[in-house]
Amino acid sequence: MRSLIDILDLSTEEIDELIDVADDIMAQPEKYQDACRHKILATLFFEPSTRTRLSFESAMLSLGGSVLGFSEAASSSASKGESVADTVSVVSGYVDVIAMRHPKEGAPLVASMHSLVPIINAGDGGHYHPTQTLTDLLTIRHEKGRFDGLTIGLCGDLKFGRTVHSLIEAMSRYPGVKFVLISPEELKLPSFVKKEFIKDKNIPYEQSTSLEAVIGKLDILYMTRVQKERFFNEEEYLRLKDSYILTKEKMKLAREDMIVMHPLPRVNEISTSLDDDPRACYFRQAHYGRYIRMALIMKLLNIRV
Ligand code: NCD
Repeated sequence: MRSLIDILDLSTEEIDELIDVADDIMAQPEKYQDACRHKILATLFFEPSTRTRLSFESAMLSLGGSVLGFSEAASSSASKGESVADTVSVVSGYVDVIAMRHPKEGAPLVASMHSLVPIINAGDGGHYHPTQTLTDLLTIRHEKGRFDGLTIGLCGDLKFGRTVHSLIEAMSRYPGVKFVLISPEELKLPSFVKKEFIKDKNIPYEQSTSLEAVIGKLDILYMTRVQKERFFNEEEYLRLKDSYILTKEKMKLAREDMIVMHPLPRVNEISTSLDDDPRACYFRQAHYGRYIRMALIMKLLNIRV
C-alpha cells in the first residue's frame, strides 16, 4: 500500500505518468467518470483549506466515488483530545483513501503508520505539501512545456511556505534548474531544505531581498503568502506581511514569457490588476489541481482505465 507523504515518494517517471493521466482526464473526462465507483475518500482537515479540500472532493466525485470528512479540528474528536493515530486507526476502516491536512509537521507520516488505507499529505504545518507540488508541476509542464533548464524565483515566505519546500524538492531532480530565493531575512528558506535539496546537490542558486533586482532573469515567479498562522508574534507578521507586492510596474521588468504562479490564497502579494495579464497563471494552476488529484487517487487505489 502506497501513501504520499513527501513529493519524493514519487519518482520522476511516476510524476510524468500522473501528468499524462491528468492530461488524458482533461481531454476525455467521461472515460474516467466511474473509475472510482463505490470507493470512498475521507478528507480529514485539521486546518482550514479551500482549494485543497474542495479539489480533492471534486476529484473523487468526478471519478464516481464518494467523500466524507471534516474541515476543522473543532468538529472532530481531536477537540476531545483524540490522537491522530487513533483517529486514523478508526477512519481507515470506513474509507478507501484519506487526504489529511494537519498543523503539526509529521502528522500525516504518523497517520500512515496506523492506517489501513493510503494517506495523502494535504499539507503538514510548515513542512510539505506534495499535492500542491503535483499541481504546480502539471502547471509548469503546460505553461512552459518542460522542467529542465528553468530558472525559478520563489518569493515571499520561504520559511513557513510548505508549498515552496515541496516544489524545491521536486524541481531539484531536473537538470539545469536554478533557484532564486527572494525573501526578507526573517523568512529565508530553512536550512533543512536548502542544504539537502540545493547545496548538497550543487544546484546554482542566489538569494535576494529585492524582487525588482532579479525578476528579469526568471522563467517562473512563484509568489507566496506570508503564513500568518505560523507566526508566534502578531507584530512581526504585520511588519513582514507586505514585503513583496507584485505590480504592473514590476512586471514590466520581467520577461515576456515569464509565468507567475501562486498556490493561493492570495492576500496582498499580487495586485489584482495583474489578473488579466496572460503571464498570470494562478487561477489556471488552481484548476489543474483537480485533474492531477484525480490521477493520484487512481494511482494510489491501483485503478487504471
Ligand atoms: C497553500 C497551503 O495551504 O500551504 N494553499 C494551498 O494549499 N493552495 C498556501 C497557503 O496557504 O499560503
